[in-house]
Amino acid sequence: MAQSVITLDGPAGSGKGTIAHRVATALGWHMLDSGALYRLVAFDAISKDIALDDEPALTELARSLEVEFVANDSGATDIVLHEKKVTLDIRTEECGCAASEVAACSAVRAALLERQRDFLQSPGLVADGRDMGTVVFPDAIVKVYLTASAEVRAGRRQKQLKEQGHDAKMSGLVRDIQERDARDMGRKDSPLKPADDALIIDTDQLSIDEVVDKVLTLVNSRLKLK
Ligand code: DC
Repeated sequence: MAQSVITLDGPAGSGKGTIAHRVATALGWHMLDSGALYRLVAFDAISKDIALDDEPALTELARSLEVEFVANDSGATDIVLHEKKVTLDIRTEECGCAASEVAACSAVRAALLERQRDFLQSPGLVADGRDMGTVVFPDAIVKVYLTASAEVRAGRRQKQLKEQGHDAKMSGLVRDIQERDARDMGRKDSPLKPADDALIIDTDQLSIDEVVDKVLTLVNSRLKLK
């Protein structure tokens, strides 16, 4: 039976997070930012000097991650890891690349699977990531795969980083994005790819509002059929 889940998958910088937030707010549904979980494992590993290919140690971190997602007064979400607020610390390029390395480890993915599924609560969930529609929520009622060229995604990332007070050159960002795409799409376990039944949206030429409209139109038509 179809689950009350909307999955938004796609590569780094495709706009998943922003779109997921807007769609979840419009529907009054919960949200799962699955990339944050991989970033938290990577952040915890770096803080504890654990190598990013030390599978047993990373798996133990993933299992024992004490994390809270707390809505703050400005409508955003604070991420608290082992009682310390790390919302911005995990958003750096370094942490994103480290998360992509950690995410190639099957045992880490397995350790995070049920934790992700636990986010599904009434009335529904909007989940963004790389394998939401293919692995974590294969019975989602709506699956969307967002794409955009590496240049457009790097431009968006640069703007986002600037707003958070970080400086980054375009050439380096494009290179990081291409490396991350190759690793996320090329790994053996749960590679980044559209689910067979996903709607693919190329966001290069679309505004955020236009993408949100497309997703909500699809969601409303599916919910009527349910
Ligand atoms: O969406 P993000 O940039 O926060 O994700 C960081 C990394 O985490 C990404 O490069 C790959 C990994 N990831 C994953 O493997 N599976 C997911 N569902 C979400 C993220």
